[in-house]
Amino acid sequence: MLRLAKNFWEVFKMMNNSKATQISENIFWVGAVDWSMRNFHGYETSRGSTYNAYLILDDKITLIDTAKIDFKDELISRISSVVDPAQIDVIVSSHVELDHSGALKEIASLAPAAQIITTNPNGLKGLTNRYGKLNYKSVKAGDEISIGKRTLKFVPTPMLHWPDSMVTYCPEEKILFSNDAFGEHLATSMRFDDENDLATIMYEAQKYYANILMPFGKQAQTALKALGGLELKMIATGHGVIWRKHIDKILACYKSWSAGEVSQRAVIVFDSMWHSTEIIAQTITEAFAKRGIPAAYYDIKKTPLSDIITDIFTSKYLAVGSPTINNQMMPTIAAFLCYLKGLRPVNHKAFAFGSYGWGGQSIALVEDDLKAAGCEIILDKIRVANLPTQAQLDDITEKILALDL
Ligand code: FEO
Repeated sequence: MLRLAKNFWEVFKMMNNSKATQISENIFWVGAVDWSMRNFHGYETSRGSTYNAYLILDDKITLIDTAKIDFKDELISRISSVVDPAQIDVIVSSHVELDHSGALKEIASLAPAAQIITTNPNGLKGLTNRYGKLNYKSVKAGDEISIGKRTLKFVPTPMLHWPDSMVTYCPEEKILFSNDAFGEHLATSMRFDDENDLATIMYEAQKYYANILMPFGKQAQTALKALGGLELKMIATGHGVIWRKHIDKILACYKSWSAGEVSQRAVIVFDSMWHSTEIIAQTITEAFAKRGIPAAYYDIKKTPLSDIITDIFTSKYLAVGSPTINNQMMPTIAAFLCYLKGLRPVNHKAFAFGSYGWGGQSIALVEDDLKAAGCEIILDKIRVANLPTQAQLDDITEKILALDL
């Protein structure tokens, strides 16, 4: 078996020339860069992503996570640039989702003696359902193993964002292997935060939190508490950059985001058929600006939902508009509100608006969905038949100026 694995290794070394990147002494990034991904189960990833895996050379050679199955060759090539994969003793599976565990079976077949560490019961159940019986070892909160000079301490972070999620801390290195937490969908050739544009990585980190972790603020706070007090030299994430210079900044953001902190800012989202709802949206945007509250204006046809959600996440006010079509709201707005309801935003104040030809049912439907998403309704539905008159637009402005914001 070992000889076969060695042959396999030699073949891969010839086929794929991806190399590992050293991030600390005897610790290597061996993941993959997905430059072309533009949609991650509905999340529009305009800058691609990375699937980060880490190899630790110690008495027990340890791999932390794998990668999406499509990138197994790149992963194996990077591992092989440092060590024969057959020599891996321990594989830590932080998360069953396939962007991290996708190549687990392939790595396990190259290193059949390797112990696969996962949480109990959720990681164990998820991995067994997907990959069958492998050499699993389950761990619980507080468990640790020695891999030689280094220790790995396991901290389950359930529902951050799956029941099985776990992070791993290495005290000797002061590195937290954080998997999905603190990550971004950002394809980059440079591994560290300080080697990338800070505004870009902070935007992508917020976008990631808003689109993946927003429903799990309480769980994020629990995880932050569990990690509180750890000395951190690096946060080695599962996606995007490794934090080493701006650790305090990303931790402060997670503290604020998980607490649902919002700022005095408004987001106006709408679709329009013949410009009437669009004119109302413009009026609402200008009315907020008149009050000194910055407002962002999104024609839903022009901006990806994931970016709109990123802006809504930290903005206190939300106005959503749709004309009526076939007694319903526009399908674009229905899809947006469906997504918003699932993300369960907190501390948002909202209202609905729209124009109509005869029925006008859409505006009440939008308001119902805003309530269902957990928003507090702060202004009665704005309904305008056909084209708004100047008097109606002035009235909308007055109503917004009169709000107690
Ligand atoms: Fe990056 Fe939940 O997987």
